[in-house]
Amino acid sequence: MGRKKISLIGGGQIGGVLAQLCALRELGDVVMFDIVEGLPQGKMLDIAEVGSVDRFDACLKGTNSYEDIKDSDVVIVTAGLPRKPGMSRDDLIEVNSKIMTSVAEGIKAYAPNSIVIVISNPLDAMVTLCQKITGFPYSRVIGQAGVLDSARFITFIAWELGVSVKDVNAMTLGGHGDDMVPLVRYASVNGIPVMELLENKYKDKAKAKEVMDAMVKRTRGAGGEVVALLKTGSAFYSPASSAIAMAESILKDSKRVLPTCCFLQGEFGVNGYYVGVPAVLGEKGVEQILEFKLDAEEQEMMDKSVAAVKGLVDSMKL
Ligand code: APR
Repeated sequence: MGRKKISLIGGGQIGGVLAQLCALRELGDVVMFDIVEGLPQGKMLDIAEVGSVDRFDACLKGTNSYEDIKDSDVVIVTAGLPRKPGMSRDDLIEVNSKIMTSVAEGIKAYAPNSIVIVISNPLDAMVTLCQKITGFPYSRVIGQAGVLDSARFITFIAWELGVSVKDVNAMTLGGHGDDMVPLVRYASVNGIPVMELLENKYKDKAKAKEVMDAMVKRTRGAGGEVVALLKTGSAFYSPASSAIAMAESILKDSKRVLPTCCFLQGEFGVNGYYVGVPAVLGEKGVEQILEFKLDAEEQEMMDKSVAAVKGLVDSMKL
């Protein structure tokens, strides 16, 4: 029985962290592809040389040839430009569409049986384009956004309440833009509603709502907050960890329930677009979408978020 094979398309900031995490967690052998000569080879050599220190067994290969991604189980795509301060994710659509087109053609030709996780932005548009060009089933082309957006929401809640992030559960749905939908009603600390805990803390319903609204706002703008600080690029540790959680569930067939950018065919009232929803990820990719009823306010936010996704995707004229 051979090891699993993970290919990373894009060897930049996120690609490097992805490769290191794959190795540290022994998820399988890893290939990193990039168009820049020497970059993927150098990064993979650098990581491989500490296998004895970090105690991992994995073959790591950097390449400029798509042939090397053949027989991949999972492909994670980060090829594309990141944003700079003042830019929205949507501003990247023109340049990253061209990059995604060539990447998807490479995946289609050399890794036709793989499950593809897209990270490149603007996410909802890039995953749509990737699926269109590869022609893979929708269940095998998905996007990473919700795991990270939810993790950010969880972090802010844990800091506010002074509890471990491990005991906070919360999720965001919708597109990976400023209209994403953090689900306040289901945010909990080991099942105890976060709103109830905030009301206990402040002894004031209005103040509790104000604090929650501020956390929702910060979650929506969290990517931009990092960009404004870094000035030269966007978040990279956190998107990498988030995509690895998805890849691990697929490679180990764990069937974790993770907010995933999935193609919807009627679920949550959306038809024919990729949108973030809770999905069961296993060896077949998206194995189930877990649908539930949104209340009127959540549905309104979801509709607004989906309208933004539609506007962006339709502008690509696929
Ligand atoms: N094929 C493969 N790789 C490419 C191509 C291409 N056609 N064009 C560019 N790349 C590579 C670049 O050479 C670079 O190494 O993509 C890599 C991108 O890395 P970074 O610029 O460091 O960007 P990163 O921070 O990793 O983000 C990548 O993910 O979260 C999104 O918004 C982010 O779209 C961005 C992407």
